[in-house]
Amino acid sequence: MTLTTTHPAGRVLGEPVDRVDGHVKTTGAAQFSGDVPFPNLAHAALVHATATRARITRVDTEAASTLPGVHAVITHHNAPRMKPPPKPSVLNLPTLAAGTSVNYLNTDEVHWNGQPVAVVVADSLDIAREAARLVHVTYDELPAVVDFGQQEPNAVPQKAGALHEGTGKKGDAVAALEVAAVAVDLRFSTPMHHHNALEPHTTTASWHGGTLTVHDGTQNIDWTRRHLAQRFGIPVRAVRVVATFVGGAFGGKTNVWAGTVLAVVAAMVTGRPVRLALSREGVYRTVGGRTPSTQRVALGADSDGQLTSLIHTSVTQVGRVGGGPEQVVSQSRHLYDAANILVRQNQLTLDTVSNAVMRAPGEAIGSFALEAAMDELAHRLALDPIELRMRNEPDRDPLGGRLFARRGLREAYARGAARFRWADRTPEPGSMRDGRWLVGMGVASAYHPAWELPANLTMRLSANGDVLVRCAFHEMGMGSATAFAQVTAHALRVPLDSVLVEYGDSDLPAGPAAGGSAQTASVSRAILDAAARLKKNLTALAHRHDLSPTEAPGTILSRAGRCHLEVVVGADRGIGRLAGQLRFMTRFLLDRRRYVKAACGAQFCEVRVDRDTGEVRVTRWLGVFDIGTVVNAKTAAGQLRGGIVMGIGAALGEETLVDRGTGRIVNANLAEYHVPVHADIPRIDIECLGAPDPTMPLGVLGAGEVGIVGVAGAIANAVHHATGLRVRDLPITLDKLR
Ligand code: MOS
Repeated sequence: MTLTTTHPAGRVLGEPVDRVDGHVKTTGAAQFSGDVPFPNLAHAALVHATATRARITRVDTEAASTLPGVHAVITHHNAPRMKPPPKPSVLNLPTLAAGTSVNYLNTDEVHWNGQPVAVVVADSLDIAREAARLVHVTYDELPAVVDFGQQEPNAVPQKAGALHEGTGKKGDAVAALEVAAVAVDLRFSTPMHHHNALEPHTTTASWHGGTLTVHDGTQNIDWTRRHLAQRFGIPVRAVRVVATFVGGAFGGKTNVWAGTVLAVVAAMVTGRPVRLALSREGVYRTVGGRTPSTQRVALGADSDGQLTSLIHTSVTQVGRVGGGPEQVVSQSRHLYDAANILVRQNQLTLDTVSNAVMRAPGEAIGSFALEAAMDELAHRLALDPIELRMRNEPDRDPLGGRLFARRGLREAYARGAARFRWADRTPEPGSMRDGRWLVGMGVASAYHPAWELPANLTMRLSANGDVLVRCAFHEMGMGSATAFAQVTAHALRVPLDSVLVEYGDSDLPAGPAAGGSAQTASVSRAILDAAARLKKNLTALAHRHDLSPTEAPGTILSRAGRCHLEVVVGADRGIGRLAGQLRFMTRFLLDRRRYVKAACGAQFCEVRVDRDTGEVRVTRWLGVFDIGTVVNAKTAAGQLRGGIVMGIGAALGEETLVDRGTGRIVNANLAEYHVPVHADIPRIDIECLGAPDPTMPLGVLGAGEVGIVGVAGAIANAVHHATGLRVRDLPITLDKLR
C-alpha cells in the first residue's frame, strides 16, 4: 500500500501536515488485523471461566461440537502443548507489566473470573460465538481473594526495579507535617479503568509448515514475535507479525494476551487461517485494565505557601498471575520543591486478571490526588492555586537534586493563564454563576517522564530522489507514519512527498514498542543517525565523481551512475541484538542519573455544574504543554487532545465495576462503562511551547501520555470552585455532588 502526502514543498518539521494514511482510513481501504482477507478463513470465539479460582473438573463440549459449522472445540484436554509465557524484558519498557503467566488451555487451573477455558473454531464468527455459549464447564472452586477494599490493609511496599523507583525520602516529612503552619491530609480513590480502544483486540493467524504469520493489532510487534516464537518452540525468524494499522491501544496492546495466543493455537489445530476477534466483553475479561487505587496526599506549608512537607502514598493491585507496579506517586517526586518528601507505593495481590499499563500509567491517577490536594492547600492558604505552584517550582529535582533537562512549567502556566483569562476567576467557591449553572475554573499540572528505546532502521535513497525508510514501528492512530516522513524529509532536506515510510511488519528492521510516549524520540534518533550516515556516504560519492556535495541527493546518485544508496542503523549493529539493546538502555539510564527528562504542562478548565441536579459539564479547556520539539502540530495536538478526552472520561464517568464476591467485571460493555461522547467534550485548545529538549533525539519529549495527566485534578478543582464541594473519589458523578 502506498501512502503519500500532498504537503507543499518547503519547511516540514513541526508543520500540521495531513496524515499520510488519512485517505485510506477515511475511505475504508485501510486493513486492520480483522480485515485482511484469507481464503478458507475460520473464526474463533473464547469460552470464559465463570469461576474465580478453581480447578476444572469437567468440560462438556458435546453440544458445541455438534453444532453445524463448528470445526473444533479446544480445551485443556486436547490443546497442543505450549511453553509457558516468557518473562517480560527490561529492554522493552512497556512490557514490564506482564501479560499473564497462565499457559492457556495447558492447565486445568482457573486464576480469575473470565480466564479463557476453551476456544471454539467455526465457519463464521456467529457460529463460533453461539457454540462457545454451549460449552459447559464444571469447577471445583477454591478460595479467592478479590476485594480491593477489604485487602487494602495487606498491601506491601512495591520493590524498585531497573526502570521504576521505590520509596523516596527527603528529610522527615511526617514530623514536618505535624508542625506545618497550614496542612491538609487527604485520602483519594480511583476505580479500575479499561482502555476501550475503538478496535477490540483481533488476531488473524495462519501457519505455513513451520512458519507462522499473525496479523495482530499490537503496539509491540517485536515482543509479540519473540513471545510467540518461545510459546510455540519455533525460531524467531519463523514468526511474522503484521500490524499495519491499529485502532487505538493506550497500553492495552503492549502485552501478548490470551486472544493472540489462542488464535495461533486454533490455526494450528484446524490447519486453517483463523481469526479471533474479541468481543468488547472479551477484551474486559482477558485484557488487563488500569488498577484501582487509594492514595493519601498530605501537604504542609508555611504561611507563605512554601511547602515544608509532601507525603504521597498509594495502594494498587496486581493479579496473582501477572501485572506490574503502577507508578502512582511518580510525578510527586518531581513537581514540587518541598523541604521534606515521602513517597511510597504499596501493592496487593488479587485473584483477578493482571493489571496493565494504561495511558500515563501512574501519573494519570496519581496527579488527580496530588493536584487536588494542592488546590485544597491553596484554598486553605487563601492563595491562588497557580501562585502556590509557582512558589514551589523547583530549580533542580526535589528528590536527589538532578538537573532538569528542560522545564517549561512556569512558562506554560504564564501563557495559559493569559490565554484562558484566569484573572477573571473570582476565588470564592460558588461566586461565579450563569443562570442555574454554577461556574468553576480549575488548574492542574501535567507531567510525564520522557523515554527512549532502541530502534533499528534502514534508509534508502534512489536516483530519482525518492527516499524509503523501513522500520517496524507502530501506527495506532497517532500519526507516526506522517511524523517519521516529516523527520526524514527534515533530516535529508528533501521534499516530503519524496519520502515513503514502511512500518508495522516484523519483516522490517525491529522498531521500539509504541509505549511510554517513547516511539517518536526513539525512531527519530534512528532516522537522524541514518540521514547523517547517508549524507556522509553521499558526500564521499560526490567527491569521488568530482561533483558538488550540495547538489540534490538524487542528482549525485544518477551522475555517479548509482541506482540507490542504503544505510542500516540500529541498536544491534555489529554486535548481537541483546548486547546492542543492553548497551543502548544502559547509556540511556546513565544519562537519566544526570537529568530528569520529562514532558510537562498546565491544564486549564472551566466546568458548569447544574445547581439542582449536580450535572457537570466541561465547557472550556486549554492545555499548554512542553513536549519539546513538535514534529507535526496537527497530530501532536491530536495526541494531547485525546489524552484530555480520556482524562475527562476518568474524571466524570469511567469506572470498571468489580463484583466484590467474585472479582467478576459486571459492566464489561460500552453501555455501562461510560466513556465520553462528542457531546461531553468542549472545544479543546492546545498550545505547545515548542523548544527542543537538549538531551532527547530531535529534542522530542513525547506527547502520547502527558495530555491525560492532571485532567481529573483540574476538573475536581473546578467543581470545587463551582460548588464548594470536594469529591476525592473518582468518578465525579452527580450523586456525589449533593
Ligand atoms: Mo502506553 S500506557 O505505554 O501505551
